[in-house]
Amino acid sequence: MCGIIGYVGRESAVPILLSGLRRLEYRGYDSAGLAIQHNGNLEIRRSEGKLSNLEAVLHKTSIEGSTGIGHTRWATHGRPSEQNAHPHRSGDLVLVHNGIIENFLTLRHQLESEGHRFESETDTEVIAHLLSSVMKRESRLDQAIRQVAHELHGNYAIAVMSLAEPGRIVVSRSGCPLVIGLNGTGAFLASDVTPLLEYTREVLFLEDGEVAILQESEIKVFDPEGQPKEYQAETIHWDAEAAEKGGYPDFMMKEIHEQPQVIMDTLRGRFNYESGEADLPDLVMTKEELLGARRFWIVACGTSWHAGLVGKYLFEEMVRRPIQVDIGSEFRYRDPMIQPNDLFIAISQSGETADTLAAAREAKRRGARVLAIVNAVGSTLAREADGVIYTRCGPEISVASTKAFTGQVIALYLLVLHVGRVHEVLSPEEGRWWLDHFLLLPGQVEHILKQENMIESIAKQYAKKRNFLYLGRGINYPIALEGALKLKEISYIHAEGYAAGEMKHGPIALIDSEMPVVVLSPKDRLYEKSVSNLMEVRARSAPVIAFVSEGDHALDQVADHVFAIPDVHPLLTPILFTVGLQLLAYHIAVQRGLDVDRPRNLAKSVTVE
Ligand code: AGP
Repeated sequence: MCGIIGYVGRESAVPILLSGLRRLEYRGYDSAGLAIQHNGNLEIRRSEGKLSNLEAVLHKTSIEGSTGIGHTRWATHGRPSEQNAHPHRSGDLVLVHNGIIENFLTLRHQLESEGHRFESETDTEVIAHLLSSVMKRESRLDQAIRQVAHELHGNYAIAVMSLAEPGRIVVSRSGCPLVIGLNGTGAFLASDVTPLLEYTREVLFLEDGEVAILQESEIKVFDPEGQPKEYQAETIHWDAEAAEKGGYPDFMMKEIHEQPQVIMDTLRGRFNYESGEADLPDLVMTKEELLGARRFWIVACGTSWHAGLVGKYLFEEMVRRPIQVDIGSEFRYRDPMIQPNDLFIAISQSGETADTLAAAREAKRRGARVLAIVNAVGSTLAREADGVIYTRCGPEISVASTKAFTGQVIALYLLVLHVGRVHEVLSPEEGRWWLDHFLLLPGQVEHILKQENMIESIAKQYAKKRNFLYLGRGINYPIALEGALKLKEISYIHAEGYAAGEMKHGPIALIDSEMPVVVLSPKDRLYEKSVSNLMEVRARSAPVIAFVSEGDHALDQVADHVFAIPDVHPLLTPILFTVGLQLLAYHIAVQRGLDVDRPRNLAKSVTVE
């Protein structure tokens, strides 16, 4: 997610913008830039990489002026580069943008046919050209923004300056946050409150569709219909660190709660509902190449490997395609039977994991097509793969992966739907059925997050235990593995994930009153078997925490604790169970007084073997 900062007032803008961009670095970025309006000119400075590169550029060619906007870019459309960095200019106006414009290609083609020349690969530049077109007819920038807003599909927060309106910054938002504030020296805007706190704690959070005009000593707000709107500033009591976490106690909790948005953003603009198809332009594979793929492979590490295991069940059960799932460090050192024309899917949040990269390179060397499901745009894996599906989670700061896992599973749903429709294994009606149910997931995750207190109370009872066992069957066997990993890595409690049917082949010897057992028992065709596993565990006095489907009360008298997720199709339960298990691990670790964002011994990206 990008970072936006703006200032109009009596002070020199560049130092304020740079200070604000530094405050936004925590959001993650791959390039940065700013624009200053001064004496009838618009000066733009941009650079790839860290802010220090932008500062070096400004050191060489400083800019005077007291009206400016700045931006840190987390690439979604177009690789990280100076050319794709914001601000973007068209004619006499310049803007910065946070969000995703789904229909930017259609709009770009239309603008190019009208003679507009594009300099970048971004969706953002489309907004600049649309506005400059409309400004030829409209008298005011705020009116032009309202008009252009009707053409944009997706989400955005924008800050715009025009030579036609010196000493002004005009902002608007739809789906992405934008905060504005005023103090004795001028007016400020930013993507979140963090950069504003050193200047003012009296701020206004703009609402969707609203437009605001910022001037040195005045802010005017208009409602979506263009009517002036009185506003009441809010007082922010957070300190800067709390603001970076959006008011959450740590990044892990913030990222757990971002998952509904991640699901929406990863789905956004990637399906055609009428035809019931997924739309994956970055896949860079023709239907014939997909149809011709001899075998499918998924290779990843850690949590991403667990997502890959979920993918195995999706490929087999949604579209009847066999698929081989491997751990990166195993695949790279076997003599794998991968051949030319196989499809090799590498899953990685960072796109820099050494074992996954090495496996992908080995697959490529053997002639396979490599598709990356990755979060970090422009990462090594993304650049080396033949095709990419980005998970659009924004940067995942906490070492324990949460929202990235969810984004990976959503990407796999889309990929499997695509394969199913290409192979005509799924009908248009079945495709629409799956899309309808994917689109229900954000609300269902919200529903689970609202019951966090219940999971927290369970966590408090078991935070001192030394061992846990997680049991799951079918598509939730990987979720048992993931739940155990989350607990291990942030609470340092030994936890094992196991296929529930394997219990009798050894682990049952471990069961006693000191080993809590988490059982995932959705209402699926394996439900009865999961219940009998649960009874076996109970018979050996182990405390049982059962995760069930809503409406199932059969275990209320059997398990010590029952947590219900929405009653959905079995193949749609993994994300919902995982969110519950993320919260369980989180609250146990917090009870143990541990640093959930930076667990001991762990790195966010394992770039070495
Ligand atoms: C997950 O919580 C861990 N931090 C770790 O297992 C991680 O998933 C693994 O290192 C793979 O990282 P990647 O997704 O960036 O490739």
